[in-house]
Amino acid sequence: MTQSASALEIEVWRGAEEGSFQTFKTPRREHQTVLDVVTEIQREQDPTLSYRFACRVGICGSCAMVVNGRPRWTCRTRVSEVLENGNHIRLEPLRNLPIVKDLTVEMTAFFDKWKNARGYFEPGEKPAGDFAVVKPDSKKRRAVDESIECIGCGVCYSACDVVEWDKDYLGPAALNRAWTLVNDVRDQGNAARLDAISKSEGCQACHTHMNCTQFCPKGIAPTYSIAGLKRKVWWRAFWGIS
Ligand code: SF4
Ligand code: SF4
Ligand code: FES
Repeated sequence: MTQSASALEIEVWRGAEEGSFQTFKTPRREHQTVLDVVTEIQREQDPTLSYRFACRVGICGSCAMVVNGRPRWTCRTRVSEVLENGNHIRLEPLRNLPIVKDLTVEMTAFFDKWKNARGYFEPGEKPAGDFAVVKPDSKKRRAVDESIECIGCGVCYSACDVVEWDKDYLGPAALNRAWTLVNDVRDQGNAARLDAISKSEGCQACHTHMNCTQFCPKGIAPTYSIAGLKRKVWWRAFWGIS
């Protein structure tokens, strides 16, 4: 990796809910990612720095942080995309989740909400005996394809103002997951799922701010998934269609 002359100035949140920023200087290198910088700080300067990553290639969803005020996956965010004033980056843990330490947050509430939205496959009492044939150009298949690639990174959850105001709100990722299952022709759990997501903390609480859609690193649009769920809930309430 080529090293360039100017050093980076990295402000990093240290502590938990109470804490302060600590500034580190690290070498500026060609093509480096934000995750590379955090790893270099931890390995070369302070082994007590806490952060998370696993795959480094945008698959596992574990490396998300707030970078200069915006939630991002850090393994696929180049330093050159986010620098302020030539050499400055501020790193904070994701918002809307309790901080364990430094850049690491507790994700339990985030994944519990997937469960509360019944964001898991329901094969029913008599699962189909054969593979389902789902045409790639069918409306339901296309709806699933648009929303299925979620990596559970929490970026959308961190960006959502409604999650900040209402800690019970299921949030964009769990509702997006529910939407993929609502459109899965093999699944048999939609009645209970629509009950779950139509409660006060469900899809109707979304204010359509679009932050989730704007920041999702996978290009998913949870706002549209949630709009689809709202339509389903209305159709079911007025016409009994689910
Ligand atoms: S569109 Fe809904 S879920 Fe997405 S950020 Fe806005 S309020 Fe949150
Ligand atoms: S919808 Fe996008 S931002 Fe939200 S958890 Fe999934 S991949 Fe991350
Ligand atoms: S480290 Fe796996 S998505 Fe970034």
